[in-house]
Parts: sequence; C-alpha cells; structure tokens
Amino acid sequence: MTLHITPLAAAFGAEVHGLDPTVAPDEEARGELRTAFDNFGVLILRDHVVDRRMQTYLTELVRGEEDLSDEKIATDAARQSSFYISNRIEDAAAPFGRLMWHSDGMWSDHPFEVISLYGEAVEPPVPPTRFASTTRAWNTLPSRLRARVEHASALQVPGPENFAHRRGSDEDGDLVQPVRDKDYSVTKPVASRHPRTGRTILFVSQQMTSHIDGVPSEESEELLNALFEHMYAADNVVEHEWREGDLVVWDNLACQHARPDVKLDSSVRTLRKVGWPLPPMADKQAVGSYRRIGASQ
Ligand SMILES: [Fe+2]
Repeated sequence: MTLHITPLAAAFGAEVHGLDPTVAPDEEARGELRTAFDNFGVLILRDHVVDRRMQTYLTELVRGEEDLSDEKIATDAARQSSFYISNRIEDAAAPFGRLMWHSDGMWSDHPFEVISLYGEAVEPPVPPTRFASTTRAWNTLPSRLRARVEHASALQVPGPENFAHRRGSDEDGDLVQPVRDKDYSVTKPVASRHPRTGRTILFVSQQMTSHIDGVPSEESEELLNALFEHMYAADNVVEHEWREGDLVVWDNLACQHARPDVKLDSSVRTLRKVGWPLPPMADKQAVGSYRRIGASQ
C-alpha cells in the first residue's frame, strides 16, 4: 500500500490518497498515517466506502493504539454504534442549529483525543464543518497576548448557554444547546500540553470557556475575545465541504470545530461519528436532548 499525503492549501490539514479501506494498512502505512495525523491535525479521505469498524480502526490507529485486533475494534465500534450527527436520524447528536467553536468534552477530564466523521448520507450542498488549529494558534500568538495567558487557567463548561454575547447574529441561525442532567466543569491551563505530541495548545473556546481564573470578568472577556479573534482568523481555519463517502479524522485537542446553521428540513446531512478514547463515564455524560439558543427559541 503506497500512501500519498497531500497538504491542503490551508495552514494545516492534509488529504490522504492511496488507502484501501477494505484492507488493514501495513506497518509502514500505519506509521505514515500516525505521523501525518500529528503533523497535520486533520486528515481527509474522499470517495471511500468505510464501515463503522474500519472507521473505528483508523480513529484508534492514528492515536497510536497498539491493540487493533478485530475483536477489540468490533467491541469499541459496537459501543458507539448509535453515534451520528444528523438532521434525519432519530436521537442523533446536534440535529439542528449552529455550533460555535469548541473541542468535544473540553469541560471534562476525558475529552476525546481523536474524532472522525464519515459522510454516510449527504445531499450536497450541506453546511460544512470548520476546523481551527489550537497548536498553530499558540505558536503564532503575539508575544503581548502570550505573556498575559501563559500561566493562566480557565474554567470550561459545556455551553453555549450564558454566552449570548458571543453568539453573533441570530439571523445566522440558532445555536444548539445539549441538555444534560448534570452541570459539568473543569479548570485547565490556557496553555495546555497535548497529551500525545507534547505540543502546547491554546485551550480556550468560544462555546465552552466561561472565564479566565482570577481576572475581573470584563478583563477576562476582553482577553478571551482577543484570543478568539486570533485563533478563528481565516488563515487558521480549514473548511470541509461534505460529500457522501468522505472520511474526516481530526485531533480534537490540536483542533477545534464549528459549523454554520443546519436545518431539520434542509438537505440530508448524516455523518457517522467515532470518538476515541471513550471517557470512562461515557454513558453518564450522555446528552438527553437538544434545544435552541437564539431568537426563535
Ligand atoms: Fe462537537
């Protein structure tokens, strides 16, 4: 198997050519995929038929898992067999609305390290998924801003409730709010260390960061806005336009993601999701339902 990794024109992300998803990649190809994943943060494969097992295999592979046996992958795939992002499938996640920038589970001690979405049923054009690099955001952060946050911590919550001042225009669509039976939060360094690569990531987000610790609220919001402006600038963003048969695998800590408004009655947008590693209390953190945050709530 000969892989070709083609960097996107953007500042990060790459497209993978030459992978046959019906066959487990050999050792050399596995190494190439892992290296590409750590270097590019987002890997895109197009025009493939990928089942949930192979999607799970690839998602675990790029995180560096050693045990990729058929039995383990089948078990891990079955544990998340109902994970979908869809405006059609019943009980799917985020069925409508906009999503502000975030990393899944950044309010918990066990956020996914890797997420993948597969375009199972897509009727283009559908709203894209956008990615922003947290490692590049940190590396390019102006020194004046860096000095203000390099030793700071911030409180992370699920959001986006209470962040109305960040949500922009309701004309762009309502935000989607997951409804859980418990409030979650965690305090983490703004300059966090990526657990696998050791690189520094800018760990604040538009949807999930409440405030910077120990700073007056007005100053905290001003500081966060300056960080958001830098991280979500066009030169630090990759946009993926979905087609059926696309597999996108991304580093949930080295990148954040967002999307424009999705309507329940617009074109079919069913993306099969796999996240890894699963948090120990995954079932307890489950989302019960979703509601709208915006003008039409
Ligand atoms: Fe998400």
